[in-house]
Amino acid sequence: MSSLNTILFGLSFENPLLLASGVNDKVPEQWIRAHKEGAGGVVTKSIGIEPRKGYGNPTVVELPYGLINAMGLPNPGWKGFLEMVEGYAFDFPLIVSIFGGSPGEFAFLAEKLSGVADAFELNLSCPHAKGYGMEIGQRPENVYEVVKAVKDVTGKPVIAKLTPNTNDIAKLGLAAEKAGANAVSAINTLKAIAIDVYARMPILSNKIGGYSGPGIKPIALRAVYDLARALDIPVIGVGGITTWQDAVEFLLAGASALQIGTAVSLRGWRVFREISEGIKRYLEEEGFLSVGEIVGLALG
Ligand SMILES: Cc1cc2nc3c(=O)[nH]c(=O)nc-3n(C[C@H](O)[C@H](O)[C@H](O)COP(=O)(O)O)c2cc1C
Repeated sequence: MSSLNTILFGLSFENPLLLASGVNDKVPEQWIRAHKEGAGGVVTKSIGIEPRKGYGNPTVVELPYGLINAMGLPNPGWKGFLEMVEGYAFDFPLIVSIFGGSPGEFAFLAEKLSGVADAFELNLSCPHAKGYGMEIGQRPENVYEVVKAVKDVTGKPVIAKLTPNTNDIAKLGLAAEKAGANAVSAINTLKAIAIDVYARMPILSNKIGGYSGPGIKPIALRAVYDLARALDIPVIGVGGITTWQDAVEFLLAGASALQIGTAVSLRGWRVFREISEGIKRYLEEEGFLSVGEIVGLALG
């Protein structure tokens, strides 16, 4: 369907849609299901060094235009992850998301998981886990150090996932590019809160969470636009993509591939087919031969 093979560092995407990290993607059966339902590839739930249970309930609040979540990065740790994938062979790109508290921890995880990952996505952007994610990824110098440390230990492609909780996301992207990242993805969730008016306290057990879904789409689109204008490496768009029109907007803003998270959670697996069929129809009707032809057309 697209010329993404060449755009995205040799991973053979049959279409530009990937399952975003953290949404219906904890176990291999869900990755396989996502692929069957039309995802070209999958980004796993973020994996850390030690197993984590995550926060107590409630961890998710549903709002009219999306979700606020604070899961607390629940994951089996790298050893548990390796045990979980043993015996599986995937016929789609498996992008393993990793998180650490320092460049050394990210590098350690990349080394341990290089045998099973087709690429790594570095979670430099989770907004609600103390000592991780955004707390590291808000500073360009940290982004540089983490990407560099991972590139030093793995030959697998490295994607830096950036936070929108910053005044200039392009600076973060440029730091990732300088350190050798093969791509950036944007955006992770926006720091947010919801309050129960009768309990008169925050709803989430962690109080603060990350906002995702249709409400953040214009912000994600602007982030992709800014990044695509500033960087030479590919940008992967994520944030609120729910319809094929959203997807086309992101491609026109310069995204070479797209991730879908909350829409899968709210509308089911069928969103992959609906969106890819919509993109295909749009390309045919507008006289384009491939997704690659429309990437960045709105950058001007
Ligand atoms: C329940 C939930 C869990 C998430 N967990 C992760 C995660 O572990 N690692 C990560 O990088 N992003 C995580 N995200 C962020 C998504 O991958 C994505 O960047 C964000 O939700 C915006 O896209 P969307 O609007 O399509 O969901 C999570 C999002 C949600 C809603």
